[in-house]
Amino acid sequence: MRKSKVLILVLALILMVTSIVFAAPNENAAGAFDRRITARVDGERALEHIRVLSEDIGPRVAGTEEEWMAANYIKDQFEKLGYPTEIQEVPISNVRSNLIITTLGNMELRVNTATGSGYTDSDGITAEIIPAGLGNSPEDFPAEVEGNIALVQRGDAPFAQKAENAVNAGAVGVIIYNNAAGSINPTLGTYSSPVPVVAITLADGSLLIDELQEQEVVATIKAEHLTKSWNVVATSTPKNQKKATDQIVHVSAHYDSVPFAPGANDNGSGTAMMLELARILKGQNIDKEVRFLAAGAEEIGLVGSRYYVNQLTEDEINRSLANFNMDMIATSWEPASYMYINTVDGQPNIVSESAVAAGARHGNDTYYLNAGGSSDHVPFHQAGIAAANFIRREPDTGRLEPWYHTPADTIENNISLERLQEAGEIIGSALFDVLRKDTPNLEKSRIRMSDEALAPFFIKGDQQ
Ligand code: BES
Ligand code: ZN
Repeated sequence: MRKSKVLILVLALILMVTSIVFAAPNENAAGAFDRRITARVDGERALEHIRVLSEDIGPRVAGTEEEWMAANYIKDQFEKLGYPTEIQEVPISNVRSNLIITTLGNMELRVNTATGSGYTDSDGITAEIIPAGLGNSPEDFPAEVEGNIALVQRGDAPFAQKAENAVNAGAVGVIIYNNAAGSINPTLGTYSSPVPVVAITLADGSLLIDELQEQEVVATIKAEHLTKSWNVVATSTPKNQKKATDQIVHVSAHYDSVPFAPGANDNGSGTAMMLELARILKGQNIDKEVRFLAAGAEEIGLVGSRYYVNQLTEDEINRSLANFNMDMIATSWEPASYMYINTVDGQPNIVSESAVAAGARHGNDTYYLNAGGSSDHVPFHQAGIAAANFIRREPDTGRLEPWYHTPADTIENNISLERLQEAGEIIGSALFDVLRKDTPNLEKSRIRMSDEALAPFFIKGDQQ
């Protein structure tokens, strides 16, 4: 009796030990691979990139000098890491304006230029401002509008109709002022205005209306046509050519911003972490090709990334395994406690699944699959490549931080070093997992689209 009890105990012990020993390799293997990334991600380094982009350079609007400076900073960083890097010129059409009230001591008003606005030569246009009410019908425009600048208020009719009425009345420029507090960012839809159309706040509009009761007001509008943006593309080729697959993984983040926004979180954060992951991956043995895309002109309609995808050959698209896109990964806004992993169709793919799994390995269940577009993963998805965007949001509501697209998108207001670090560790682990040679093959990762559905994406030079 005693003997058999001992035997059972010994057997049980052996069973326990062997199960630990046999279970261990998998867990350790995952842990060890993750640690190659997590032990190296340096949030402070990434933060320094955000500092250069958002503070030294500042707002980086598509096609401006500042966007060009940012592109060159990013290129320098990739080259210092030893990656062959090119700046890809992207054709765009973007108008940027300024508005100076000459009769009010050359006071400069902050303006947003309407999408679809016309532009001027470098002298701009100088003319009197003529109020035209809401500008919703031709009768709102007095005869003096001819050759002058029409001032209309937002409301009741589309911006395009106001602009077109003004142009028909002979206006050489249009100012639209808001009808409520806050910013105004008009788009003219399909109407392409021959004259500049700019938007100002309700406060500034009211100031002009008040002045116009007293005296004539003269203004200069300069509207510059910007025609070039830039993608920065760095390439990592497989180290061991014998083991190399022909697969390509695209890592992307846009580095441009909207006007007046320093873009610390949108999207200094994603750009900076892409540079940091590029630094770490440099030391790893990777059998796949990695292309890092710092995309320009995202904020004017995903123009840089669409151009990049359109430039890929059919063969390159067929070899493309995945796109990891980071856009707004590190807000310090407390309620944004989830990392949404947005796929365009809401379906899981190799990117989302590797990221959810990496989150789980880190004991983090806030990396969450969601349906969403509005960033550079969209053109990849449309070309049939498994793609996802990482963006921090409030769970359930999906709300973004209140500083989104404002001058308050700064490191001080809107960056959490801790969340930046966490994103780097989890997204970096997921990326490295996909880059390792024994991960699921290309056939399994491709999202299935018919040849017919794919055909439009092989048309070159499509600007949409
Ligand atoms: N960083 C945002 C991402 C985003 C995604 C914001 C979803 C809000 C919702 C991105 O830069 C952005 O602002 N995108 C534009 C759309 C784009 C096609 C011009 C937007 O959402 O207004
Ligand atoms: Zn963005």
